[in-house]
Amino acid sequence: MPKVSIPALAEKRAAGEPIVMVTAYDYPGARAAERAGVDMVLVGDSGAQVVLGYDSTVPVTTDEMLVLARAVRRGTETAFVVCDVPFGSTEVSDAQAVETSIRFVKEAGADSVKLEGGSESRLSRIRAIVAAGIPVVAHLGLTPQTATALGGMRAQGRTGASAAKLVREARGVQEAGAFCLVVEAVPAEITELLRGELSIPIIGIGAGDADGQVLVLNDLLGITEGHTAKFVKRYGSVGDDSVAAIEAYAAEVRSRTFPGPEHRYAATDEAIAAARAELGE
Ligand code: KIV
Repeated sequence: MPKVSIPALAEKRAAGEPIVMVTAYDYPGARAAERAGVDMVLVGDSGAQVVLGYDSTVPVTTDEMLVLARAVRRGTETAFVVCDVPFGSTEVSDAQAVETSIRFVKEAGADSVKLEGGSESRLSRIRAIVAAGIPVVAHLGLTPQTATALGGMRAQGRTGASAAKLVREARGVQEAGAFCLVVEAVPAEITELLRGELSIPIIGIGAGDADGQVLVLNDLLGITEGHTAKFVKRYGSVGDDSVAAIEAYAAEVRSRTFPGPEHRYAATDEAIAAARAELGE
């Protein structure tokens, strides 16, 4: 399969062929996504919570994200790799946003970066990063990095003012040069209107039918413990399977049934004799 490119993603949109995006945060996750044939892999800052154990996406640093991104890059061949730029790494100035984005391209081999928000300053960041030659995916609707300002982790575009803001911001990010837009936690009817308005692909998460879909890998595999968002669908039970496997291992260690003869190395008579001699036997 050829490497997925921006024109190929645009073609999929034009042909009405859904784009498949999934997050990944490490080499095995990226290998699984690659082997499953997804189009796009997102090194999401959701990794802050699902793999690093933070209670939100806010604390994760660029250096931490770069470790995850490099591992994902090493595990992908054809999938288009998008990296989230973390909170605080683009907010100060356009120059800071360009510097951060360049790090993801040079140090992790990212194909693109993803930026949350559609305010005037965010549009300025998108323009600057695109002008530096780095493709940008925009992210609107529920933007977890600034969830406090949105009143919490809640669906967006449900009131007149919020829906109108979403339309303005969606037009804005496209005009600023984003080649793709992720829309999170938005009523399906509003997503449908945005699809009619924009010419770039819209990837939805909790946003109804769109040009493509994205889910957090740990959520879809069933690794995430406890509450997940309404829009999550679990396709596996890897978390429970992992606990069961570790319990089985622990039980066999405790009962001395593991390791069995097939897991042992055999010593030569010479090695045993030499060890005995060294022990003075
Ligand atoms: O960080 C992430 O996983 C994301 C997706 C929810 C789109 O931004």
